[in-house]
Amino acid sequence: MSSRGNFSGRIGFILTAAGSAVGLGNIWKFPYLAGQNGGAVFLFIYLFCVFVLCYPVMVGEISIGRHAGLDAYGSYNKLGGKKWGYLGLFGIMIGIFILSFYNVVAGWAFGYFLHISFGDLLNETDFSSFFGLFVNDIFDLTSAKGLANSNFIFSMVFMAMTAFIVAKGIQKGIEAANKIMMPTLYIILICIIVYSLTLPNAMSGVRYYLIPDLEELKIQTLFEGLKQAFFSLSLGMGTLMTYGSYLKKSENITSSVATISLADTSVAFLAGLMVFPLIHFLQFKLQITEVAQAGPPLIFIVLPQIFHEMGPLLGRIVGGLFFLLVCFAALTSTISLLEVPVAYLVDQKKMDRKKVSWGTALLIFVIGLPVMASQGMIPALNNLPFYKGQDYLVFVADMCDIGLTVGGCLMCIFITTRWKIENMHSELENGNPNYRTSFLKKYLNFTIQYVCPVLLGILSILIIYDKFVGI
Ligand code: TRP
Repeated sequence: MSSRGNFSGRIGFILTAAGSAVGLGNIWKFPYLAGQNGGAVFLFIYLFCVFVLCYPVMVGEISIGRHAGLDAYGSYNKLGGKKWGYLGLFGIMIGIFILSFYNVVAGWAFGYFLHISFGDLLNETDFSSFFGLFVNDIFDLTSAKGLANSNFIFSMVFMAMTAFIVAKGIQKGIEAANKIMMPTLYIILICIIVYSLTLPNAMSGVRYYLIPDLEELKIQTLFEGLKQAFFSLSLGMGTLMTYGSYLKKSENITSSVATISLADTSVAFLAGLMVFPLIHFLQFKLQITEVAQAGPPLIFIVLPQIFHEMGPLLGRIVGGLFFLLVCFAALTSTISLLEVPVAYLVDQKKMDRKKVSWGTALLIFVIGLPVMASQGMIPALNNLPFYKGQDYLVFVADMCDIGLTVGGCLMCIFITTRWKIENMHSELENGNPNYRTSFLKKYLNFTIQYVCPVLLGILSILIIYDKFVGI
């Protein structure tokens, strides 16, 4: 075991797993999903999904990993045989596809960070057309904005940073990077929230965010909440299983998972608290409505406009810090995604971690090229006829979301029918001597065997039906 490396202790594991969980999903996706799905209504549905459906799945996933002490494929294979090994491979594939599109969006954030901090992006007046051009021409090296403007390069550098950290191994690379980036991320987040709450009209944003609008309650809100919870907690494909395999037996899994879920949920919640006051400040300043619905471009179009309104110096500071925050959040997640195929190759094929990290990163970067080109450069990818005219990025992201809930459902079935829940309970006793007699044991016993597989199964089918046929 020791040659594979392991986390130094409780704090290292929690910060690293929370680093995986906290990412673009929290800062980029959560606020606009909440904006589109009735504000606080979405928040409550999300919380229900996190605590009822996701908490047990996360405990299960980490216990499998720690018990087997191997990568996602190896863990399923060791505890369940070759057939279940395919579920591990399925997870690894999903992870590769998530990273392929995730890294592209991370590249945009990285580009914006450079442009705002060191370039003159904030002199722009039309951020919507800027963003359109920015994502469209991925090889544009001749930007008038003072900095080379190539998404291709931004994404490549981002992937290289990811590979660099993963290549250094668990403790010296992944854990060390998370120990620096996660606390910094929290500090930046709190500073921007404090500032944004002092802006004119901020409270109207807070009200919008926190007061439920029950008319918005639709079945799709539940789907969105569940998919978001799974994605945000990095569940269902083996990231946490892999991280769990580096966790010492003396650590308490159930309490660590509670801390990780809380850390992730608090960042998503706080990101909304940061973004909505900013949006309502802009609405007030420009006397407009309806920007809260801006959707995916929210942080790339609406927020830069707000930083522009703040004036050249303050805008550069707040805007630069904001995108630095997004980059840190994204990097701690891309690391966790790359680690999944890397651990597989290191454990199963006995390959060298350094070589595998760089090689896999390059491969996934190439798999991501169509995603990059789907934002306008290649019109066919921008408008998929079999997918209601949506683009390839949306398509890949949606397919991965489905893969996660299906993966989570199958994992519960694996624990119940193959590995057996008793083995999970014994694993959870390590580091938690009172577990046997606790209420938590009864709760997990019931949710993992009945509630999670049934609800996740039904919801996955409904989500697939809704995507392709429509409810
Ligand atoms: N959870 C991260 C986010 O919210 C993304 C992520 C990292 C992820 N690893 C994952 C999502 C594994 C699903 C599975 O941005």
